[in-house]
Amino acid sequence: MKSALLDQKFWRHFAKNHWEKKPLLLRNVKSDLIEMTADEIFDLLVLYADRCRQINDPTGFKFYTDGIKAQEEDVLSVLPEKSDKSLAGYHKRMNTLFSDYCLVCDELLQVNLKKQHLLTDFTDQLYRHVGFPNRFSEMGLYLGNYKKTPFGVHVDSCGVFSFPVAGTKKFRLWNAAYGEKHPELDRTFNYEKNKKHSQLLEVGPGDMTYWPSSEWHIAESDGSFSATWSLGVWVDQPHKDMVSDSVKELLDKKLGSSGTQVMTAFKRLHNKSGEITGLPKSFSNSLKLLQNLSPLELQDILSRNWMKHISLQGFKTMPYEALELSAKSCLHLRNDRSPILWQKSLVTSNNYYASFGGVLIESSSTGLLNLIKDLNAGNSCAIQPYLKGASSKKDLHSLQTLADAGAFNIL
Ligand SMILES: [Fe+2]
Repeated sequence: MKSALLDQKFWRHFAKNHWEKKPLLLRNVKSDLIEMTADEIFDLLVLYADRCRQINDPTGFKFYTDGIKAQEEDVLSVLPEKSDKSLAGYHKRMNTLFSDYCLVCDELLQVNLKKQHLLTDFTDQLYRHVGFPNRFSEMGLYLGNYKKTPFGVHVDSCGVFSFPVAGTKKFRLWNAAYGEKHPELDRTFNYEKNKKHSQLLEVGPGDMTYWPSSEWHIAESDGSFSATWSLGVWVDQPHKDMVSDSVKELLDKKLGSSGTQVMTAFKRLHNKSGEITGLPKSFSNSLKLLQNLSPLELQDILSRNWMKHISLQGFKTMPYEALELSAKSCLHLRNDRSPILWQKSLVTSNNYYASFGGVLIESSSTGLLNLIKDLNAGNSCAIQPYLKGASSKKDLHSLQTLADAGAFNIL
């Protein structure tokens, strides 16, 4: 069969006809994301599960049996282990214990820096054509022998791309208009009479499906094993929320301790006729603050929050490896496609901001800025020569913050 290329022509067509409009089923897709083998995925799962066992915290994994979500403390005991040897081996062990189980691992790719680009190659193209998500995208792996999605028919606030890895998967969909008229669909497993109004997408490894955020859906299977990647692109954060969050942040800072008062002192609430003739002092003071906000201050807060937002590259979190920096460390950008973003402050002449992985640092150190520029140019840089004088301790701390967010490798 001819393979479907996810080229510019595809993405243009997708953005125009499918994105948030209607479902898509594509057979035999040519994408590196799909070329990740079941064995590679198994290794990732074990790596992540080992980390969870080490810290005694299964966050990132969810486990359902017969549609019921397992308690956190029980999840650790059902995760894949090296001795399972493969996805099939893991399934063999689980299948003897549970006739209906579903293991969900969110952000699995976050544990493997080497595989992250497979995802970002896909999302970069998507974002270029439909826009950057105001919230984020999340990649999860769903595996098990479960016959239906554990929580029944539902609608999420995200558009979903699915890539089956093993087994056959069926997704049953109802459009938003039908869902609105049939609220009984919500969380149900009994939808026999609604079936004729649904669309069934049957897919196997190599295929890709997409459905818009408004589509009601449930996954079905005959009880044999399947594993599926699912990329959810959240569309529940309107632009106005981003703007108001930024303005709120600016105002919170400006208002300082007066902004935290929970009672308002007043002279008189109203006069005898009920008329209000003035504001309490705290409000007059805050009004002055608002009136004195400069256009540059507003531009500055919007710019740096936009930078902070895009430094996550459209994801909820960025993969990281714990690194302990010292002045003697020699750094290299971890990924030459992921520079540390920076901009000059618009409000003070000697400040700039730098951002990576959703963290933001503010600094006036030219040494630090030069180091960032050199790293972004692809160079390996020893820290010491850049950080001099009184600010060097603070600069090192700033670098550690960026390192914790995953910006560097240490050579
Ligand atoms: Fe869903």
